[in-house]
Amino acid sequence: MSKETFYITTPIYYPSDNAHIGHSYSTVAADTVARYKRLKGYDVMFLTGTDEHGMKIEQKASQCNTTPKEYVDKIVANFKSLWKLLNISNDKFIRTTDDYHIKAVQNIFQKLYEKGEIYKGYYEGWYCTPCESFWTETQLNDGKCPDCGREVKKTKEEAYFFKISKYADRLLKLYEEHPEFIQPESRKNEMISFIKNGLEDLCVSRTSFSWGIPVTFDTKHVVYVWLDALTNYITAMGYAGDDESDYQKYWPADVHFIGKEIVRFHAIIWPAVLMALDLPLPKQIFGHGWLLFGDDGKMSKSKGNVVDPKILCDRYGVDAIRYFLLREIPFGSDGWFTNEALINRINFDLANDLGNLLSRTCAMIEKYFKGTLPLEKEGADIDKELSDLALQVKEKYENSMDKFQFSAAISDVWKLISRANKYIDETMPWILGKDETKKARLAKVLYNLCEVMRFICVLITPFMPSTAEEIAKRIGAQKDVVTFESLEKWGLLKQDVSVIKGQPLFPRIDAKKEIEELNMMFANQNNSKKEKDSAAKKIENVCTKDTIAIDDFAKVELKVGKIVACEPVKKAKKLLKLTVNDSVSDRTVVSGIAKFYKPEDLINRHIILVSNLKPAVLCSVESQGMILAADTDDGIKVIFVDDIPEGSIIR
Ligand code: ME8
Ligand code: MG
Repeated sequence: MSKETFYITTPIYYPSDNAHIGHSYSTVAADTVARYKRLKGYDVMFLTGTDEHGMKIEQKASQCNTTPKEYVDKIVANFKSLWKLLNISNDKFIRTTDDYHIKAVQNIFQKLYEKGEIYKGYYEGWYCTPCESFWTETQLNDGKCPDCGREVKKTKEEAYFFKISKYADRLLKLYEEHPEFIQPESRKNEMISFIKNGLEDLCVSRTSFSWGIPVTFDTKHVVYVWLDALTNYITAMGYAGDDESDYQKYWPADVHFIGKEIVRFHAIIWPAVLMALDLPLPKQIFGHGWLLFGDDGKMSKSKGNVVDPKILCDRYGVDAIRYFLLREIPFGSDGWFTNEALINRINFDLANDLGNLLSRTCAMIEKYFKGTLPLEKEGADIDKELSDLALQVKEKYENSMDKFQFSAAISDVWKLISRANKYIDETMPWILGKDETKKARLAKVLYNLCEVMRFICVLITPFMPSTAEEIAKRIGAQKDVVTFESLEKWGLLKQDVSVIKGQPLFPRIDAKKEIEELNMMFANQNNSKKEKDSAAKKIENVCTKDTIAIDDFAKVELKVGKIVACEPVKKAKKLLKLTVNDSVSDRTVVSGIAKFYKPEDLINRHIILVSNLKPAVLCSVESQGMILAADTDDGIKVIFVDDIPEGSIIR
């Protein structure tokens, strides 16, 4: 018999910036479910990817003097290496710039047009570029985007429209008949009132920019990026392409994991599009909560309050970060990411509870039995309490995992860990070890501890795959005794099990020092954004004789750059040729500062770069921009901003 399938997705992220820990949160959660379902024997399809078209990316690329494709290629490579680092087990990775996706979207658009679901018209309204969403005048909140609170732009252009209005009733019926469709439940009411306030036909093409999938029958139009993006969930499976076998096998998806801010797109637009195509609907949309950080709430690059997952993984290990994300905040709710909470979880839950249980167990087996338990054993009544609890965990755990209540599932595993630590205190193996006649009892106690470790190993596999693997190795558990079914039996480890002592799984951290260091590190990274904001305010307030409007200033694009190479320019005594990196690419800048700086004084320093200056050729070298310097009595002084990361935009 073929296995039951399970199809889970993450959002496809915008590669407008590198991923932060908020993106990692959704991806780690989906990965945990994928691993859990595989453990239970499902044929799993786990999809993630990147949403690469649209105005936001086009603008971002042009700010960086590069083409959209070149721009996204670099960031997508970073996404992929981050997922690798985080041990993400996705089966596919879709890029919306992949050929097969482009063709499929064109087919879908054509199909909708031919079915009369799409018609040509003229759009007049508002557009929020960061959210890539259309708004009517009345939907705006104080003239700003009601979702993100940022500026919106007046937009007037020829466009195609999707007749979403006609699906209002079917959508309401869907929510009513399938209360599990939108999860958590609380998000459903928002959707209902959004629909009841009046669903206007949705603009699904753009003509005012070009970075998108062209409409085949009207090529000055590109497909609206959200229509392009949402269809990824079926195009990645081959829908409307050459080979639809995965589509046949896995669609409809069992669940789309997304952040709560994009529930509207997934719970309204996406099912309406599928209805228009006469396709089955996904079974569930799960809109999880936000990771909040610092004083500004929702972590986002544009607010400058992000946490870099790579830094954390390098310091504490991938599994500690995966564990923290899913343990600390109930999935579905918002929660604060704090350095204190992170360090405390690592020290208490991982180093103390889990790590100690393993190292005490293995160390005692080394000490009393040279690493291998004898066959002769003697049980006692108290053993049953431990084994019963272990045998009971599975059901509770499955209950929570099936509802994506990761924190609750982990909490049940930790109850077992605590019970096992208590069992050590109760049985006092170090006393038994002193008495030759108690060796058989001691062997049993230590065997039971290994058995508990086996249960724990299986249960943490979806959350901390490498740690689980390491535990299995240390307690000498072969693959066939760390399966999910093996949780139904006590005593599967062989009686003469051999263990390996090894290093602590999670070394304890000097909390006070570490928290201070982390606070400082993230503040440095993120302050640049706040400094930028206050600098912009100051500029607004400065009043000189020939004032310029803020818009004039806004034309100048200032960025922090890092000087990665520097050399004199031949036959030009005053000039230095700098290679400046703005976190995306390198560029050459020629600067008249050779009298004041030696090349080696400049390497690795951060400077302010005018990045949208028309290139100019100086002594046969093309200069792509200039760097800011002050003219002082002591000569020219370059403005260094070493504590601000390269790539930061200055406003
Ligand atoms: O919206 N807390 O992409 P995006 C929790 N391309 N999750 C967070 C988060 C935070 N602070 N920040 C980001 C898009 N996320 C579209 C999606 S899908 C067809 C198209 C996660 O790059 C969360 O999953 O803005 C959120 O929904 C997603 O990243 C937004 O990523
Ligand atoms: Mg977003």
